Amino acid sequence: MAIVKSNDAEMEVQDGEPIIDVCEELGVCFGCQAGNCGACLTNVTDGMENLSEYSEQEKMFGVEGKERLICQCIIKSGEVTLDI
Ligand code: FES
Repeated sequence: MAIVKSNDAEMEVQDGEPIIDVCEELGVCFGCQAGNCGACLTNVTDGMENLSEYSEQEKMFGVEGKERLICQCIIKSGEVTLDI
């Protein structure tokens, strides 16, 4: 079981699963849910190594540093903290 944290809450998610649903509950806003619109762009403050590699959509969008398009992220295991 993996954990996604925001500044004041945390939620469990199965290892190897997308984090879009729990992040919606944590307060991330979504639009296209396909890596195109950028609505879900969020900074990962801790645990970037526990997320999937950048998707092709994220590369095309040009995310960098601590940024991720959350609709594209799968958590491998462990904990991830987001700046929501
Ligand atoms: S919801 Fe559009 S890029 Fe993630």
